[in-house]
Amino acid sequence: MKVGILTAGGDCPGLNAVIRATSRKLLNEGHEPIGLLRGYHGLAERNYLPLTRREVAGTIHLGGTILSTSSYNPFREPEGVEKVKAAVTEDGFDAIIALGGEHTMMITRRLHDEEGVPTIGVPKTIDNDVTGTDFTFGFNTAVQTAVFAIDRLHTTAQSHNRVMILEVMGRNTGWIALFAAIGGGADGVLIPEVDLTVEDLAESIKQRHAKGFNFSIIVVAEGAELAFRSGEKRQVLATEATDQYGYPRLGGIGAALGAELEKATGFETRVTVLGHVQRGGTPTAYDRVLATEYGIKAAELAMSGDHGRMAALRGTKVVSVPLSDVTGIKTVDLHYLDIARTFFG
Ligand code: F6P
Repeated sequence: MKVGILTAGGDCPGLNAVIRATSRKLLNEGHEPIGLLRGYHGLAERNYLPLTRREVAGTIHLGGTILSTSSYNPFREPEGVEKVKAAVTEDGFDAIIALGGEHTMMITRRLHDEEGVPTIGVPKTIDNDVTGTDFTFGFNTAVQTAVFAIDRLHTTAQSHNRVMILEVMGRNTGWIALFAAIGGGADGVLIPEVDLTVEDLAESIKQRHAKGFNFSIIVVAEGAELAFRSGEKRQVLATEATDQYGYPRLGGIGAALGAELEKATGFETRVTVLGHVQRGGTPTAYDRVLATEYGIKAAELAMSGDHGRMAALRGTKVVSVPLSDVTGIKTVDLHYLDIARTFFG
C-alpha cells in the first residue's frame, strides 16, 4: 500500500511524533509511507518525500513538522481538486492521512465524501478546539509552557506586590487559559466562553489583596472579550487584517485588560504575552505518547481501508470517528472553571 501523509494549518508540538508512528507502523507491515510537502499543496503539486525509516528516525522530540505546512485548500485553488484526484490515481495512493485542525478536517471530509478521495484525518492543535475528540496532541505542551511561565511570574509578582497578567492563545476557546490557570495556581481567568466583567475581576483581586495576599496572577485567553458592567463589550484584535482562513487575528486583550485592572484596583499591573512560544519546541512526554497513539491508529485505518474517518481520543483510548463528527469548535468544559474558581478571591 502507498499512503500519503501531510500536515496542514498551524503547526503544533507532536506532529513529527505522529508522522514517525504512522510511518513506522506502515513500514513494519511492508507498506510505503510518502510525505506530502506543505499540506495539500504537496499532493496537488506532487511534491513528495519518501518516509523511510532513516527519514523519521530521531524526530519524536522535535517540534514543528518535517513535512512543512500550509493553508492550501484544493477547493479554493484553480483545478485544486482535479490535481489532488489526479495525483492520487496516477501515483497510486491507497490512502491520504491529513494532520490538521477543524479547517483541514473539513477539507479532508469533503475530499472523501464529495470526491471519493480515500482520506483519513488526525486532529491537531494547541487550542484543543476540534470537535469529535476529547484532547488533541500539542495542547498539553502548550499548557505546560504556560504553566512554566506562570511559575516564573509568581516569584516576581510576589517580590513587587504586582498584578501579573498572562495572555495565552486558544483562538475562540479557553482550554489553554483554563488548564494553565489550574496548573499554575492562578488567581483569576478570563475566557471567551464566559462573560466576566472587568469590575467583577477587579473586585475579586481586591478581596484577595485585602486578605493579605499582595499579588495576583490572572490568565487571559486571547479570544476573551473585554466586558464591563455597563454592558459594553470589546473584542481586542492584533490587527485589522484577517488570517489566511479569513478569521480575525486575535491578540492584545492582555494589555487592554491590564490597563483597565490597574485603573480599577489601583494595583501596579504588568502584562506578558506568551504568543508562539506556546506552539514551538519540544512536545511533552504525554503529547509524544498521545501523538504516537494517534499515528498508529491512522496507519491502522489506512491498512483496513477505513476512509472518511478521523483518529480520536475518547476517554483514555484512541478510537476512530466519522470525519462528519467534526462540526464547529469545541468550547471549554465549564467543569474546569468550577475547579479553577475554588482558588480565586
Ligand atoms: O490555532 C493555533 C493558533 O496558535 C491559535 O491559538 C492562534 O490564535 C493562531 O493559531 C495564531 O495563528 P498564526 O500562527 O497564523 O499567527
